[in-house]
Amino acid sequence: MSSLIITGGRPLMGEIKVQGSKNAALPLLAASILIKGTTVLERCPDISDVACMLEILKTLGCTIVREEETVIIDAQVLKGHTVSRKNAEKMRSSISLLGALLGREAQAEIPLPGGCSIGKRPVDLHLMALRKLGAEIEEKEELHATLSECTDAEIVFPYPSVGAVQNAILASVISQATVVMKNCAREPEVEELCCFLNCAGADIRGGGTDTIVVRGVKELHEIRYTVRADRIVAGTCLCMAASTQGTVTVCSVNPFELSAITDVFARMGCMVQLYSDAVSLSRKGRMKEIPLLKTMPYPGFPTDMQSQLMSVLALAAGNSVIRETVFENRFRAAYELKKMQADITINEKEQLAFIRGRKHISPAEMRAPDLRGGAALVIAALAAEGRSIIEDREYIERGYQDMPGVIRLLGGDCENG
Ligand code: EPZ
Repeated sequence: MSSLIITGGRPLMGEIKVQGSKNAALPLLAASILIKGTTVLERCPDISDVACMLEILKTLGCTIVREEETVIIDAQVLKGHTVSRKNAEKMRSSISLLGALLGREAQAEIPLPGGCSIGKRPVDLHLMALRKLGAEIEEKEELHATLSECTDAEIVFPYPSVGAVQNAILASVISQATVVMKNCAREPEVEELCCFLNCAGADIRGGGTDTIVVRGVKELHEIRYTVRADRIVAGTCLCMAASTQGTVTVCSVNPFELSAITDVFARMGCMVQLYSDAVSLSRKGRMKEIPLLKTMPYPGFPTDMQSQLMSVLALAAGNSVIRETVFENRFRAAYELKKMQADITINEKEQLAFIRGRKHISPAEMRAPDLRGGAALVIAALAAEGRSIIEDREYIERGYQDMPGVIRLLGGDCENG
């Protein structure tokens, strides 16, 4: 069993250049099969979810070369439109290949992605949107989909699903159709996909807003593109400064994308400084509680930061409440944090976490419950005086590039067990 061993109790100090965004890179990698040639993706994070996606692209016939943080994909010739269960089960975002394969091959066979630890993760909105474009989709163990010709459509999303919007874009970007999408997810990772595709010759307006218009084009051309910073990794590093009374600056980021996160830290009494491409956070003394914080679709407070903030609120001066509104089962880190004497009560039915802040928490042996829950345990272990062990390190490695190296660079003590 792999683990992280953290000796906490000292402030983290320093600057860190944030890795490329996992949730931007994954749809861009799926989109690369729409380009009958070479895609060069710079600042592509070296994490296991990306490695899994690259494996899937290889099975589809792509040639892949990684040179440090640059990945080169040659999708000149594809040799199939089927994603194997073995690979698809490892990573939920294989579902974004559905739209890309329909866009490139007009057909796709993809295992119906199962749920995961944070929720049921249905794909009904993906299928609704693709069917609006004219796709025929049979739902068995696998999704068997064909899209002989993408038709003009207006798609109104009942919920701003990031993945469903991305799939609709991928399926329609190379077509003769005009597609208007409303109530779209406004996440930066949707905007990133639109930017990437437009740089490759697409005609997509409104990326990052709630209304996106795709005017299909005949083909896309080769492209070299740099992935934007991972805003969740940036927020996680700022949480490490807050939990250890340190001072951390995250560099090569877009501060605007972090504003929901930095606003919360400012309300807690941390000193937050915004620069053109960096954010610095410093914390001295006890933090104030947050009476109620709700996770929301962008630009609200991101669900992907909820567990990490819970660890920080466990050290605040008063009582805080978090309401998780996006996923059904995203409080699992709380049960591990309680092993560190964090005072947290979860109301699963109402999806509420009641956090009574404490001056200190204690080191413990814990198990990462999922990707962001694992990051939350790291943040708490860095604050606790002494040695903590976090089992199931693989969860963290899905989305964080060299977590031990980042922590050591900031003066912390972390090694692989
Ligand atoms: C993306 O997942 C991210 N993953 C998630 O990050 C992130 O939490 C989520 O967006 C919300 O921001 C990637 O980009 C790879 P959704 P996605 O479709 O696209 C429901 C992380 O930790 N829904 O916006 O799957 C769904 O169940 C991961 O990096 C349907 O009901 O998220 C959820 O409750 C975790 N039907 C809500 O919508 C559907 O067809 C938001 O899901 C699709 C979604």
